[in-house]
Amino acid sequence: MIELRDATEADLPDILAITNDAIATSEAIWATSPRTLEERRDWMHDRQAKNFPVVVAVEGDDILGFASYGPFRVYEGYAQTVEHSVYVSRNAQRRGIGRLLLDAMVCHAEKSGMHVLVGAITASNTASIALHRAAGFSESTPLPQMGRKFGRWLDLVFMYRLFESH
Ligand SMILES: CC(C)(COP(=O)(O)OP(=O)(O)OC[C@H]1O[C@@H](n2cnc3c(N)ncnc32)[C@H](O)[C@@H]1OP(=O)(O)O)[C@@H](O)C(=O)NCCC(=O)NCCS
Repeated sequence: MIELRDATEADLPDILAITNDAIATSEAIWATSPRTLEERRDWMHDRQAKNFPVVVAVEGDDILGFASYGPFRVYEGYAQTVEHSVYVSRNAQRRGIGRLLLDAMVCHAEKSGMHVLVGAITASNTASIALHRAAGFSESTPLPQMGRKFGRWLDLVFMYRLFESH
């Protein structure tokens, strides 16, 4: 059975492995060099210290994916806008885990009084776009050639949920 829980220090090697696999093999994240355990630890501690979620999907002893959100931009006007990310291990995809994690981000953001939850998604990332559409996210017009990876320009789409009550 797959369960979601808050990430702990012990989950960091698996979170690192999932992150670095996505960096090495996909255009989902526009990083090209692998992250380190220290970077992932600092990232998790920073998020948790600010009461932002870092959630893992677990089956037995296996970490199959994780999700988190944090500030979108630093200016005060963006205080109720947060940007999320969701990663599922390649051998665990299409089992509903991405949806579980994304729904957890929506739930957390809404309960925390956020107004917008937004994902910055590579326009060619059909899996992520389909996932967000299925979860009721709206989408912006793609912004052309916002970055580069693997020797080609990448377009960027913002997919967002508004929480009208906040
Ligand atoms: C995007 C990602 C998180 C989806 O996770 P997942 O666990 O495979 O997705 P789910 O099984 O929960 O899929 C939920 C729905 O999303 C859509 N979807 C997911 N993957 C899809 C794919 N490869 N092609 C088409 N639709 C897809 C489907 O509508 C699916 O519902 P269905 O299986 O009933 O048809 C996963 O592919 C991933 O981690 N990719 C690499 C990192 C990444 O792109 N992260 C997002 C960055 S913003």
